[in-house]
Amino acid sequence: MDENREPRIRVAPGGVTRRMVLGSGAATGALLFAGLPRLAWAAGRPADETAPAQVPVELKVNGHTHVLTLDPRTTLLDALREHLGLTGSKKGCDHGQCGACTVLLDGRRINACLTLAVMHDGEPITTIEGLADGETLHPMQAAFVAHDGFQCGYCTSGQICSAVGMLGESRAGMPSHVTADLEQARPELTDAEIRERMSGNICRCAAYPNIVAAIRQVAGMPT
Ligand code: FES
Ligand code: FES
Repeated sequence: MDENREPRIRVAPGGVTRRMVLGSGAATGALLFAGLPRLAWAAGRPADETAPAQVPVELKVNGHTHVLTLDPRTTLLDALREHLGLTGSKKGCDHGQCGACTVLLDGRRINACLTLAVMHDGEPITTIEGLADGETLHPMQAAFVAHDGFQCGYCTSGQICSAVGMLGESRAGMPSHVTADLEQARPELTDAEIRERMSGNICRCAAYPNIVAAIRQVAGMPT
């Protein structure tokens, strides 16, 4: 061997030697070896050992009390749709962005996909199924029909629940982002107010002018 030659250690770009790469690979292998039995143990556990405990929940929906036993992670929307069969409330985005799941909680509109069922134990919830009085439609439902406030209908239950809640907020004097005079006891309900207050409810069919007309009718405004 030529005494004057440099030792044959290849240095990769960035100063990483082959020996370093081999060393880190061995360390990774050791970690995997140590961790794999734990993964295998977790995978082999019975489902009821890894799932969270079920909890009792009493949901008061549309005047009826339902006692359920739920995974505490169950959203109110899933409890309504999957456990109570109330499929009028729709799942559009499941992220609080479309409003298709809007229901009324003690008269206040909420996105049922963004809240857990266990958080509403004993609280009065109204869904689209609970708005009508027997065979008689709620005035907002009748107005949506009269003004063709929908096309495919997927957003409609959320739109109607939201419109009912919105009119309640307006009548109670709550301002919106477009209310010009915050001193007014009861801001005038203009089209701009209606559109702003309903902006959390998306309609992919763009039935917006007809939805505004329906709300105007229920609010007693000229249509
Ligand atoms: S499904 Fe709840 S906001 Fe879209
Ligand atoms: S009627 Fe189709 S999304 Fe609104």
